[in-house]
Amino acid sequence: MAFLIQFLHVPTLSIGTIPIMATMNDTAIQAKLEALVRVGVSLSSVGDLDLLLGRIVAEAMPLTGADGASLYLRRGDRLEFHTSRNRTLEARGPEVMERLFQRFEVAVDETSMAGWCALTGEILNLPDVQSSDDPRFRYNPSFDQRAGYQSRSMLAAPLLDRNNQAVGVIQLWNAMEEGRIVPFDGTAEMLIRGFASQAGVALANALLNEELRKAHQETLFRLSSAAEYRDKETSNHIKRMSHFTRIAAHAIGMSETDVEMLFCSAPMHDIGKIGIPDHILLKPGLLTPQERAIMESHAVIGAHILKDSTVPVVKQAAIIALNHHEKFDGTGYPQGIKGEDIPLEGRIVALADVFDALSSRRCYKDAWPEPKVVAFLMEQRDRHFEGRIVDAFLDHLDEARAIGLSHQDSPEDFENMVDFTRLPIPEL
Ligand code: C2E
Ligand code: SIN
Ligand code: SIN
Ligand code: FE
Ligand code: FE
Repeated sequence: MAFLIQFLHVPTLSIGTIPIMATMNDTAIQAKLEALVRVGVSLSSVGDLDLLLGRIVAEAMPLTGADGASLYLRRGDRLEFHTSRNRTLEARGPEVMERLFQRFEVAVDETSMAGWCALTGEILNLPDVQSSDDPRFRYNPSFDQRAGYQSRSMLAAPLLDRNNQAVGVIQLWNAMEEGRIVPFDGTAEMLIRGFASQAGVALANALLNEELRKAHQETLFRLSSAAEYRDKETSNHIKRMSHFTRIAAHAIGMSETDVEMLFCSAPMHDIGKIGIPDHILLKPGLLTPQERAIMESHAVIGAHILKDSTVPVVKQAAIIALNHHEKFDGTGYPQGIKGEDIPLEGRIVALADVFDALSSRRCYKDAWPEPKVVAFLMEQRDRHFEGRIVDAFLDHLDEARAIGLSHQDSPEDFENMVDFTRLPIPEL
């Protein structure tokens, strides 16, 4: 027990105004503290932000006996309302919370309960928000009115990172005891204090992860589109073909994680075109055999640019760059490998890349109508492409069509690429 209290950095047992031992015996508190330690350990292992937010809210309720919980994320000097759970409302049906959920923000200042918590770093415990005599902490009744709910007791705690900065706020509603709404007691306050500091650190880590992942992904996308200034393909090709890759990968039953990774690595498949001379890359007509041989080296050049990375998504991108022009029957390049000797990601991207190349205009060809593209894919079952990937992809042709429509090339895309001296100054 003493160890647990120390662990939670709770200096004394007399936090707040309500005595801790009022409602619980020693064993009950010990059980709660042990639950808190377990929860803290389990939170620290969740790297995904949305999962983590859901977990924080779900764990906080049983810990404190709350009927509902909301979570705010801090973005600068604003708090964004993010995740919400409510046992009473959820019992009325799965769609009820969905309907009531509204995105809103409050400022990090003293004008709202959540804002006050984030600003001061203090816990706020109100026995009855309806009759609070502090106007700052008077409850805005619009949610209760829409929901047909009665918010009374409220406990709000800032989620603090290692520097004691609030990265979020958790707000708990209506402590329940034998079906009645009661105030949150000192035990709940103590528990939420310990919980909030663990959740805060986990949240700060997840936010940092998210930022790194975004920076990483954006850099890869921008690097991929650098090749586009050498090629008459537009960035839309890169976007469309990564979406087609995602559709095909999902359709053959890949896991969500693998699908997302492929979505991030596929854009780099043609990065090696950076190394192909203009007179070949931009040639309006058909390539001679010699030119063709040079053109084909883009697969190996790409593999060199991306090789030896320790980052999984870049490793995969290297495999894709090298293998996206191999054919299932062994007649592709650069190695002429066949069947399952071709890495699966190469087989998937081959289909996505050609599907887009045929469906759109290139400097050397016009766009093909959809039925002609579909007929080509069918004809190339187990020749250029693996048959089951063709079948799975064509089962989701409507999704691919929607992507094509939402990322169309415009005539200006091509004109800009004809003469780089006429590129407009971008707005920064
Ligand atoms: P890309 O334009 O992205 O084309 C990717 C792949 O789509 C091609 O790989 C090919 O498998 C398929 N594809 C594209 N257009 C057609 C077509 O009209 N008919 C058929 N049957 N398949 C088509 P491939 O052939 O290995 O070419 C790789 C890259 O080489 C192309 O990427 C493009 O950048 C360039 N390229 C290929 N042929 C020519 C050409 O005749 N002239 C020029 N200027 N570039 C070419
Ligand atoms: C707040 O004041 O903390 C948020 C608004 C509300 O739930 O009343
Ligand atoms: C992405 O950045 O998520 C892919 C590009 C797009 O289609 O928006
Ligand atoms: Fe290619
Ligand atoms: Fe391509």
